[in-house]
Amino acid sequence: MMDWTDRHCRAFHRILTRHALLYTEMVTANAVIHGDRARLLASDESEHPVALQLGGSDPAALAEAAAIGERYGYDEINLNVGCPSDRVQEGRFGACLMSEPELVAACVAAMRQRVSIPVTVKCRIGIDDQDSEGALQHFVDTVAAAGCQIFIVHARKAWLEGLSPKENREVPPLDYARVYQLKASRPDLTIVLNGGIADLDAAQAHLKHVDGVMLGRAAYQTPYLLADVDRRFFAASREPVRRAQAIEALVPHVVRHLQSGGRLNNVVRHILGLYHGQPRARAFRRHLSELAVKDGAGIAVLLDALSIAEPSHQFAAAAE
Ligand SMILES: Cc1cc2nc3c(=O)[nH]c(=O)nc-3n(C[C@H](O)[C@H](O)[C@H](O)COP(=O)(O)O)c2cc1C
Repeated sequence: MMDWTDRHCRAFHRILTRHALLYTEMVTANAVIHGDRARLLASDESEHPVALQLGGSDPAALAEAAAIGERYGYDEINLNVGCPSDRVQEGRFGACLMSEPELVAACVAAMRQRVSIPVTVKCRIGIDDQDSEGALQHFVDTVAAAGCQIFIVHARKAWLEGLSPKENREVPPLDYARVYQLKASRPDLTIVLNGGIADLDAAQAHLKHVDGVMLGRAAYQTPYLLADVDRRFFAASREPVRRAQAIEALVPHVVRHLQSGGRLNNVVRHILGLYHGQPRARAFRRHLSELAVKDGAGIAVLLDALSIAEPSHQFAAAAE
């Protein structure tokens, strides 16, 4: 999620779930080709499995960016056909590409020629007045014919004129039935449902109708729900990691980041919601958001936050 997630966020989420597939925020093909690749594409070994999401509409550029992504070790390339922002529309990519299925198919075909990892597409159920079941099926069929087997479908359409990107994630109504119908009519394709899934009970209910679910805001804002994903959906026997353990497991990552000149807040901003719903959630969040942004903030700020959230917790390293 642009402006929200990054490799630090993924390192944290990976501590909570070993098995869920993680996605990068959208990176444009041109940025991958011409930009600061080391910064844009760097990932932690621990992040896998992780998909690189690309934005673009030029088949050759996307193919080049996909090949670079594969070299950087990503496990999947995902094409964004869902983002409604003006900036993105000007570049003629994102959700507006839903009106150009042949171009999306050409992009997929070009990427598939260059990489051996899966090429997938994230789209909406429709845009503007192109919002019938038939139009969605036509889009999916055209793109599937180019070799895309996996579609992540945000179950609301986007209005490209008049709504902000934020409104486009809230105002058009969710239509889960449309995504269920897509799966029912195209059983050979892998259909992943996205949009408004707030918890794992809701995720489980959707999984009766589709092959997978993708969580965006809920995973970011209430990340601890990820801790039960492995046991619930991947038959893992490991007990869910406890919140304090998750913080301790993140410490080496934070220390490495600080040692390489990074700021504490770059990492800990992603954990502010870890205690959501718990008695000391607000104090935990306040401590981190006030102190982690300060120049020179070090690991003690994080450990103090842990003590605030769980006063009786003995930090493993401190107890030695
Ligand atoms: C701040 C923010 C940034 C987002 N950036 C992206 C993005 O880079 N790529 C993408 O496919 N979707 C992006 N999205 C949309 C989400 O992936 C998701 O489709 C949408 O929020 C609906 O799912 P949710 O209700 O689970 O959040 C973004 C959403 C938010 C809130």
